[in-house]
Amino acid sequence: MTTLIRQGSIDSVIGVSCFTTLQRAFPDMISKAIPGIGIPLSISGCKDTEVDISWLYDVIELRPENGEPFRNAFPNIKKLIASWFENENLVSILKDHEPGELSPEDQLLSRVEKIAVDVLTGGGKKYRPYITASVYQALTGLDPDKSDNLKKIAVAVECFHKASLIHDDIEDMDDKRYGLPTLHKTLGIPEALNAGDFLIGLGYGLLSRAKTDPAITAGMLRVAAEGHQTLSTGQGQELHMLKKDDFPSSRELISIFQNKTAPAFEVALNLGAIMANADPMLCEVLSDFSKNLGIAYQIKDDIEDIEEKISKNDIASLKSSILISLSFEKKYLSSSDLNQITK
Ligand code: IPE
Ligand code: IPE
Ligand code: MG
Ligand code: MG
Ligand code: MG
Repeated sequence: MTTLIRQGSIDSVIGVSCFTTLQRAFPDMISKAIPGIGIPLSISGCKDTEVDISWLYDVIELRPENGEPFRNAFPNIKKLIASWFENENLVSILKDHEPGELSPEDQLLSRVEKIAVDVLTGGGKKYRPYITASVYQALTGLDPDKSDNLKKIAVAVECFHKASLIHDDIEDMDDKRYGLPTLHKTLGIPEALNAGDFLIGLGYGLLSRAKTDPAITAGMLRVAAEGHQTLSTGQGQELHMLKKDDFPSSRELISIFQNKTAPAFEVALNLGAIMANADPMLCEVLSDFSKNLGIAYQIKDDIEDIEEKISKNDIASLKSSILISLSFEKKYLSSSDLNQITK
């Protein structure tokens, strides 16, 4: 079964087995996002065992509400997202025209528009717009390709994220992103700040331009605005912490991570859900999920960044690493060890 899961050739799993075997199968299912239900045997042991057969029959009868399995949906969304971020598509979104309808004058971009389009077509995984489109598809069963509104909203989500990265690189005084000079290194801080501001304005403009029910538009604008405030709260907590002499506790860092990293995911998830007219209760569940996802994402980012942070010999950037905080708390590391590492 593990091989089949890894090959991506099954849609879901109904596991009937002893508890230990069921537990072994779940990590593979989770890593491939395969939905599954485990039915533990009523009597343990491989011989003369029993299972609740009516439970099994009920589960076999379960079908997705819209009748469509999701297996092939997500790679398609990835391709779709890539096409939304092609130059021509972005220019048409920016100018509020259909791609084929742009007049030569419309295709002329101001300096800051050109920078914004370059930033959006440049590096980055585009996870957040992918999340928005996936949530929309999961909740409506509709093809995201057919929704012009969804396209605008997904691009808005990435505009917000990219703006936060441009401003973050200035705040962190980082010289490189995607292995290339950061925007402020190439253009200088004033123009990079301005490009970030432009992307934020563009993002809100796109949300307001989506042709939806006014209540949906208002809901989306509120989610985006709250996201911006929380993200800035987190960045502010981190910047303040860096000014102090002490290393932060892991608890303090988790709070920073929740505030600085979760909002981009919360906005991505909830904008997809609001567009799909989701129940507010579901949006709350997505918000809770995004908090955990944000913390986990930032911890993973920290693990990936740790060697670079050590090699930079920069205590300030090490202070925002949970690995260092935990090492202090567990007494694996003392201040003198840290001095050695960063020498
Ligand atoms: C970078 O996020 C900022 C963090 C939250 C760690 P990503 O690593 O998802 O950035 P892109 O979208 O791929 O550039
Ligand atoms: C970024 O955190 C989170 C944002 C809100 C932008 P980091 O500063 O750790 O992200 P990277 O490592 O620069 O991508
Ligand atoms: Mg940074
Ligand atoms: Mg930062
Ligand atoms: Mg980082």
